[in-house]
Amino acid sequence: MKKGHKSFQSLRGMKDILAEDHLYYDSVLWTAKKIFEFYNFQRIETPLLEEAELFAKGVGKKTEMIEKQMYLLRNKENKELLALRPEGTAPVMRAYLEKGMFNLPQPVKLYYFGPFFRHEKPQAGRYRQFYQVGAEIIGEDDAAIDAEIILISKVFLESLGFPKKDIYLLINSIGCLDCRRLYIREIKRHYKKHNKQICSDCRRRLEENPLRVLDCKNEKCFLVKEEVPSILDYLCSECRDHFKSVLDYLDYLNIPYILDKTLVRGLDYYTKTVFEFYLDSKSNKISLGGGGRYDKLAEAIGGFEKPAAGVAFGVERLIQEMIQRGKKLKLPAPKLFLVQIGEPAKKMSFKILEQFRKENIPLGENLGKESLKSQLKTADRLGAQYVLILGQQEVLDGMIILKDMRSGLQELIPLDKIIPEVKKRLQRQNSK
Ligand code: HAM
Repeated sequence: MKKGHKSFQSLRGMKDILAEDHLYYDSVLWTAKKIFEFYNFQRIETPLLEEAELFAKGVGKKTEMIEKQMYLLRNKENKELLALRPEGTAPVMRAYLEKGMFNLPQPVKLYYFGPFFRHEKPQAGRYRQFYQVGAEIIGEDDAAIDAEIILISKVFLESLGFPKKDIYLLINSIGCLDCRRLYIREIKRHYKKHNKQICSDCRRRLEENPLRVLDCKNEKCFLVKEEVPSILDYLCSECRDHFKSVLDYLDYLNIPYILDKTLVRGLDYYTKTVFEFYLDSKSNKISLGGGGRYDKLAEAIGGFEKPAAGVAFGVERLIQEMIQRGKKLKLPAPKLFLVQIGEPAKKMSFKILEQFRKENIPLGENLGKESLKSQLKTADRLGAQYVLILGQQEVLDGMIILKDMRSGLQELIPLDKIIPEVKKRLQRQNSK
């Protein structure tokens, strides 16, 4: 770096995804594709930027995500306030309504994989740019859909290699707006009784959006939260039946769950079922994924009533767990490397590369000016087993040198025979 010049770094909470990292991201994506497409989900990617109002109306103005975590920007004309998407459900519902997907056979099943942005305090497993893989089923209110989303989530986690016994599902129902009204009154009563034992944020939440006190992670509020009445006691008969039916399906499917009366999730669009997935136990762990039913979101963002349920997983958190549990993915080293010396050999190398590409045989190279010695060194560092060497004389004679890097033996092979010769050797090696 030149003295006195500023050196740039990626922003706090954001990171470069390098080739080795991509092996893990791709593995999560391919597993998601395999599982979700089996269950008839179709892929959707919504833009990274949306009108900020979509999230304010969808997720809720008085949620942490909207109040504190959104990356906001204005376009040049300074007209609309835009947001880098902090989550995927509101944009998917926006697309469903905008593209008239309600005219398709219902329910519509969509899945996505891409980056999201939240201005949070970066820490292990918490980033400001992170990937989510998510799935939504829109247009159906049957409890079987909630169970289906949970079942598919579990199949997805198991397909990523997490053992069944380590997967924990926490579940709750937060009812509909009617039952929640009663419950909120109870929460207020309970928290006000312990006004001195709660943090200032919770005091504010009690006034602005009382259900959100249950999202509080402050240790000070722990005891008060522990003793909060259960919302399940305040559900109306429809919500109670719905939840009972979800749990019946889970029992039938042999999916163990833990009822968690404080699980309300941080987004206002949820109705009825909410759930989160953890590995091991919840204590000092962060959730791998979560979701639930959101029957009122479509209306909240200007559409008509459309029941729906979905889930999203944090890809970095999945990858972190995969690595911690010993999953090792390595970039494949090129088995072959092409070394060229002199202009005619360099030109011929372009043709050779094309021939190898058509045969689908990966071939490393450096078409720069490096010497024979340094190209051989590169081949060695990359772990190539064979090196093809092409100099001026070889081009004139229509030959190429094949060097075995392990034995050091070299052979001169006619150029038009090099591909079958290489194939033969690689095959021999594979069968060893
Ligand atoms: P969420 O719980 O906010 O739900 O996020 C889902 C998952 O994304 C989390 O469980 C976590 O694994 C991951 N995640 C969230 N924030 C971060 C972060 N700052 N860094 C790394 N990973 C993070 C939703 O976003 C809902 N849209 C889920 C949903 C879909 N509900 C219904 N359908």
